[in-house]
Amino acid sequence: MADDKKSQQIEWSSRFAFILAATGSAVGLGNIWKFPYVTGENGGGAFVLVYLLCVLLIGVPLMMAEIMLGRRSKENPIHTMEILTEEAGADLNWHYLGWMGVAAGFLILSYYSVIAGWSTAYVVKAFFGSFSGANASEVKAIFDNFVASPMQLIFWHSVFMLATMVIVARGLEKGFEQSVRLLMPGLFALMFLLVGYAMTTDGYFKGLDFLFKPDFTKLTANSVLVAMGQAFFSLSLGMGAIMVYGAYLPKNVSIAKSAVIIAGADTVVALLAGLAIFPIVFSNGLHPNSGPGLVFETLPIAFGNMFGGWLFGVLFFIALVFAALTSSISLVEPAVAWLIENKGLTRTKACVYSGLVAWLLGFGTVFSFNAWKNVKLFERTFFELVDYLTANLMLPVGGFCIAVFAGWIMHQEHSKEELDLPGEHLSYAVWKFLVKFIAPAAVFLVFLNVVGVL
Ligand code: PFF
Repeated sequence: MADDKKSQQIEWSSRFAFILAATGSAVGLGNIWKFPYVTGENGGGAFVLVYLLCVLLIGVPLMMAEIMLGRRSKENPIHTMEILTEEAGADLNWHYLGWMGVAAGFLILSYYSVIAGWSTAYVVKAFFGSFSGANASEVKAIFDNFVASPMQLIFWHSVFMLATMVIVARGLEKGFEQSVRLLMPGLFALMFLLVGYAMTTDGYFKGLDFLFKPDFTKLTANSVLVAMGQAFFSLSLGMGAIMVYGAYLPKNVSIAKSAVIIAGADTVVALLAGLAIFPIVFSNGLHPNSGPGLVFETLPIAFGNMFGGWLFGVLFFIALVFAALTSSISLVEPAVAWLIENKGLTRTKACVYSGLVAWLLGFGTVFSFNAWKNVKLFERTFFELVDYLTANLMLPVGGFCIAVFAGWIMHQEHSKEELDLPGEHLSYAVWKFLVKFIAPAAVFLVFLNVVGVL
């Protein structure tokens, strides 16, 4: 994808390569680790419904907007905002939007790498048969002992961060693209297999009910915010990750089709994860709201007790680590692209600096699960605070601004030309209505609701 030269000279080899990379960015821990546990914490069905509405009404149009802005400027997000503001004759302050995206990327990467480190450790645990025949309390004990050890978490966090930086430093090479081609479908297949296992458990229908039967009494203002934040997080929106990938997109590719495919694949994986996990929760007397450990406390039970579980367990965690890698590289790419293009650093140096900052920040998350477990600010641990700040505040604010920019500031003929939507004016009008009114208004109202004004 990129080399030491200016990244605007680079293009994806095909539409498929772009869709693969953007889906790789979207599908990750957010779908398999985060979606189930935030759904569990926020009461299930009603939360899922709000999440799906956010994906459809805010996520897809915004993803189109981000790809469009990136492709128009062919630059990193900070520079993109500068170029496009100039083109639109607007206030130059818009480029702060790019800065916020870079900051959000660092903050997310810092904890993302820690959790991806857990997944890497679980490849090894699965390989050595730690889950074989294990029941729910044994699996929970394995997880609890693991996260209680800062040294182990730091080790795996470092391994994952190093892997991310090596890949970003070398650019997305063919070998990597090919493994994604293999591992993405592999992850899908394994998710289906796990759902198949979940169907054989006696908690299946309870799990299904929990996910899809909305109980609106469980929906608070804050859970609506979390659902919206989860949509931004899962689709990698609001911080320029998709924008930077859009910058490498050839002109002849349909932005709308790409966005629908990416968002569709992302949503399917999240729902499959929910369908696999909640039946296991209910058939083992576990609690849906057991927090960030949920996936690590449930799926190993399936692997420990299903036919061929050893192999599937190892493959699943390998696929999860890969899914996390393809997301983590998109979290630093905006910063790295900016350091290369504007500060003249080589790609390698840009990676070393960015990696170091995110790695150090990650220590806060490591300690949130052990030494600093009880150190709280606004009733939240360091990890919870960084997660809340990024997913529920920075990404939606970023998304709000991107929507306003694409809907109100950018000249209509420019967005029309980039999007090149079929079917005369109707599909363009729908998109425009969604980014101009619905997306910004939805984010604004959800915020108002949380601060209690509504
Ligand atoms: N979408 C990724 C996931 O669901 O795991 C996380 C992510 C990647 C968020 C890139 C934001 C981003 F820019």
